[in-house]
Amino acid sequence: MTLDTHQPTPAPAEDYLKVTGFSKFYGETCAVRDVSLGVREGELLALLGPSGSGKSTLLMAIAGFEAPSSGDITIAGRSLVELPPHRRGIGMVFQRYALFPHMTVAENIAYPLRRRNMARREIAQRVQEALELVRLDAFGARLPTQLSGGQQQRVALARALVFQPGLLLLDEPLGALDRKLRQEMQTELKQIHQRVGTTMILVTHDQEEALSLADRIAVLDGGRIQQFGTPAELYDSPANAFVADFIGESNLIPAKRMGADGTSVSVKLNGTDIVVSVPQANICAAPSDDSLLLGARPEDIALSPSASETGAVVVQTNYLGAMLNVLLELGPYQIRARIPARLGTGLTAGQSVEIGFTPEASRLYTAT
Ligand SMILES: Nc1ncnc2c1ncn2[C@@H]1O[C@H](COP(=O)(O)OP(=O)(O)OP(=O)(O)O)[C@@H](O)[C@H]1O
Ligand SMILES: [Mg+2]
Repeated sequence: MTLDTHQPTPAPAEDYLKVTGFSKFYGETCAVRDVSLGVREGELLALLGPSGSGKSTLLMAIAGFEAPSSGDITIAGRSLVELPPHRRGIGMVFQRYALFPHMTVAENIAYPLRRRNMARREIAQRVQEALELVRLDAFGARLPTQLSGGQQQRVALARALVFQPGLLLLDEPLGALDRKLRQEMQTELKQIHQRVGTTMILVTHDQEEALSLADRIAVLDGGRIQQFGTPAELYDSPANAFVADFIGESNLIPAKRMGADGTSVSVKLNGTDIVVSVPQANICAAPSDDSLLLGARPEDIALSPSASETGAVVVQTNYLGAMLNVLLELGPYQIRARIPARLGTGLTAGQSVEIGFTPEASRLYTAT
């Protein structure tokens, strides 16, 4: 007998949930097209995109309320497609609380456990734990109508978590709340995720919410994934003009290719004499693309007093405390810059300034 001393290389961590080549058509309308993504165990993934981009359709297919037109969805390697929603072990929270109005808070939370025929004593204990998790211990006997919007949403969260699902889906769970309450609930949701460690998928069209809560974000537009990555990857290295504009703020200025030297591509902004050398790593356009956009974040634009008449003209300044927002006109384009306020004390509307694009922070996209 020979011993195999060869050490197998460890397999990369498998995704817990896998969506492969998923498409969904409603008649002729394609709501989601060829989406593939994976969610790791314990991860909080955000599906982020504008209205109509296909976020809810994808979530409903994972939950089992919509059948895929094509593609597969697996959890821990097992296909879900043939399983009805109640056999998938998935919890759900919707934008509207969807609590049973005639049941108390405790009865609402107990409902998924009763459906599973759990023993009374265990139900009581689990409900108590769930109430504590969402800090509503004192509210078990109330009816949903006797709660605020934020409290109702916490009950919905408790009800979705009480049966310890492997996956929790949240479709705009904070969408109905006002701004301040929304921010409080974001903090709470993050804490609950850290405490229970359940794998979660959060649908939102609010980029700040996605950036602050998610481990990774899938950006959807027109039913397609535009980019999938960590918040920092999306913010620092947008894959295309849509993501550059949707995540944070970007100036996107039409540009013309001047030449390349192996490490960078020079572009000239249309209608101006400004030439920027964009490093190869920041080129997100194919060499054959003619229609280009130079992308630069407001904070990556430098302003200096101009001696020439070819500079940009200050249209407006907005004081933000530490920073100053400066709106400029450069030929036919408007450009937004954000500079430390102490550097902008002398800026006034109508003044001409020179604009500097930091090459390392500038990116080149295909215009769509
Ligand atoms: N049952 C349906 N029948 C026909 N078209 C549908 C149906 N459901 C969704 N759609 C279409 O599919 C596309 C994606 O819809 P979806 O609800 O997934 O978007 P969304 O990203 O969740 O938008 P929102 O942010 O407004 O909730 C839209 O164009 C929508 O009109
Ligand atoms: Mg939706």
